[in-house]
Amino acid sequence: MSTVTASSRKEHRITATSLAARKRRGQPITMLTAYDFTFARIFDAAEIDLLLVGDSLGNVVQGVDTTLPVTMDEVVYHTRMVVRGTHRALVVADMPFGSYQVSAEDGVRNAIRLVKEGGAAAVKLEGGTKVAHTIEAIVNAEIPVMGHVGLTPQAVNRMGGFRVQGRGEEGRLRVLDDARAVQEAGAFAVVLEGIPADLAKEVTAELMIPTIGIGAGVDCDGQVLVMHDLLGLNDWSPSFAKQYANMGAIASTAARAFADEVTHRKFPDAEHSYK
Ligand code: KIV
Repeated sequence: MSTVTASSRKEHRITATSLAARKRRGQPITMLTAYDFTFARIFDAAEIDLLLVGDSLGNVVQGVDTTLPVTMDEVVYHTRMVVRGTHRALVVADMPFGSYQVSAEDGVRNAIRLVKEGGAAAVKLEGGTKVAHTIEAIVNAEIPVMGHVGLTPQAVNRMGGFRVQGRGEEGRLRVLDDARAVQEAGAFAVVLEGIPADLAKEVTAELMIPTIGIGAGVDCDGQVLVMHDLLGLNDWSPSFAKQYANMGAIASTAARAFADEVTHRKFPDAEHSYK
């Protein structure tokens, strides 16, 4: 009889170091956001490779307009739940706004919290050349880092809105420089968000590390979606986000049916009552 132990299960976990080989083999990488145990368990069983505890939790869990108010304590809290739901997926915790912008030292301290208190196996932070020294410092603290360039939501006020980046010669060069800086600093992968598909293709061809696209076309090494967009749980989704299910409508129908049965004293019936 074979015994599955925690350590034997861990052998099948996706690791940050294994992703470069995936890129070389041309095997696409899948990533979804997750914020709690239940969905982490479902996505892990569906063999999604990476689960990102995104600071998008501000938008889709907390109902605020930007990711800026999200705190370290909140990301730690959600990361713990997601880690508990996974056996296979690599869990990446997003570094929220304010947790790494002041200094590299701050970045290292907060990245350590996400690993030590949250249980994350890697962290993600936004920016390129400006944060390269911070990425390097976190990698030197033995924590794998995923970069994030192009449309970086934490820079919404500088960008003047959630605008596609990398348009025009100057914009293209900025994204290319940022992606190169992230790789040079030691990141194991980089998210390319909201950039023209041909630019994402060029970045992907040039970098050795995998690129994970969101609103960046089909030629990235992998793709990520926010789970609420995937499942149709939002009122509104960006045009690049494909909805694979309409769970919002299913939940609404279920809630209405429940309310109707309670109103008409049909629930609970004998089957759902104790004798
Ligand atoms: O916070 C998030 O969900 C993200 C993804 C959009 C990549 O950063």
